[in-house]
Amino acid sequence: MRLLSTEASSCIAGPETAASERFDPFEPSYVSDSYAQLADLRATEPVFFSPEIGSWVVTRFDTVKAILRDTKRYSAMLASDPLTLLCPRARQIITDSDFNVPPLLVNNDPPSHPHYRAFFGASLQRERLQALQPFIQATVDEYVERIAAGPSPADLVAGLTWDVPALVLFRLLGVPAEDVPKVKHWASSRVVMTWGRPTDSEQIQLAGEAVEYYRYAIGLVRRKAEAQLDDYLSDLVRARAGDDSKATLHEICATAFNLLFAGHETTSSAAANLFKAVLPRRELWDAICRGTQALAPVVEEGLRFDPPVQSWRRQTKEAVELDRVQLPAGARLLLMFAAANRDPTQFPEPDEFVPGRRNVMRHVAFGAGAHFCLGAPLARLEVEAMLASVARRLPGLTLVPDQDYSYTPNTSFRALRKLMVSW
Ligand code: HEM
Repeated sequence: MRLLSTEASSCIAGPETAASERFDPFEPSYVSDSYAQLADLRATEPVFFSPEIGSWVVTRFDTVKAILRDTKRYSAMLASDPLTLLCPRARQIITDSDFNVPPLLVNNDPPSHPHYRAFFGASLQRERLQALQPFIQATVDEYVERIAAGPSPADLVAGLTWDVPALVLFRLLGVPAEDVPKVKHWASSRVVMTWGRPTDSEQIQLAGEAVEYYRYAIGLVRRKAEAQLDDYLSDLVRARAGDDSKATLHEICATAFNLLFAGHETTSSAAANLFKAVLPRRELWDAICRGTQALAPVVEEGLRFDPPVQSWRRQTKEAVELDRVQLPAGARLLLMFAAANRDPTQFPEPDEFVPGRRNVMRHVAFGAGAHFCLGAPLARLEVEAMLASVARRLPGLTLVPDQDYSYTPNTSFRALRKLMVSW
């Protein structure tokens, strides 16, 4: 059984350098704004070992992208394992339970990854997404209308960006909408347990929640197995047609568990991060509201400028050289999407927000290569719908000045907890 982490495989250490000492990926000031430090590291030590996380940190665009595209030399198997080793009690809570998430998509390699990607990706194609469009529009408009009718200032995260992606995902999966608060809570817990530095007592609590979260996904798929409806999970049960060589019910449960995280957490952050970037740029915001600025390039630049997934993991399968640094086989890597997306060799004036950049589509916010995000078209659709609806209904929206921007405490998922706006 594969657990939440690769604790069994010992972590290979690298040489400690000036960057190793400076870099603390969990430090609150880094979590709230990593960009200046990453720019400096990218220029001075583009690849270095961080003892804090037992990983080599990789910051240059070309290097990050080459790694993502190379499944022969780099493995994705550890992608969703905790960065901080769980304490024995937290681990025991998981091992004593029925928690068992096999490697399928994001944390898998060839030869089985292409098989699962074809099976689980088939029903995420255009027709399902197109069918969702009216629901997305109606849900976004209803939420925006509710904000407009309420008092100003208000929290745009609580009022819009937190719920909408979960409601859309739930409609896609065929999950009752009243479960949104529970699943959003579990998703945030998973972020902290996997990509944060929780204390032992926090880990114990988070491990218990991870087990509940997983059991919820099992219950959901069991119900679909009994009665299929018009939704993605039912599509999977039908497509399997009882044939375990296509996918087992257990594998569908694990995919439901992963999508109940990946399918909304990131999109909520993409929308919140985008509003935070766009609202202070009044010329741009006014052009959006007047309809003279196309929305798709704004959404794409937002994903480049402040990516919801700031860093992602890989492991070397053989000894490699990266930016003149020698790494052994088995070296863990933290690929810094936040640094790659602001690499000036790729994106001139990277700290400027420039919708319509010639090469913006090259950003790595959705990864690249064999594991490129299967939900990217849906995420783009949702973020654009939120931007369009707010611009239409609340053109006078501004950020409340001097507010504190607080993020879920972890190093990979840039999730704003609150975004206060007034109009
Ligand atoms: C703005 C929102 C999103 C961002 C930033 C994002 C980001 C990512 C990233 C970085 C990866 C890993 C790529 C790699 O290893 O190269 C990924 C994989 C994945 N994402 Fe997303 N994602 C988003 C939305 C979604 C949504 C809405 C869904 C589903 C409805 C989804 C489903 C998946 C799946 C299934 C994978 C695994 C693909 C594979 O390994 O073959 N994502 N995503």
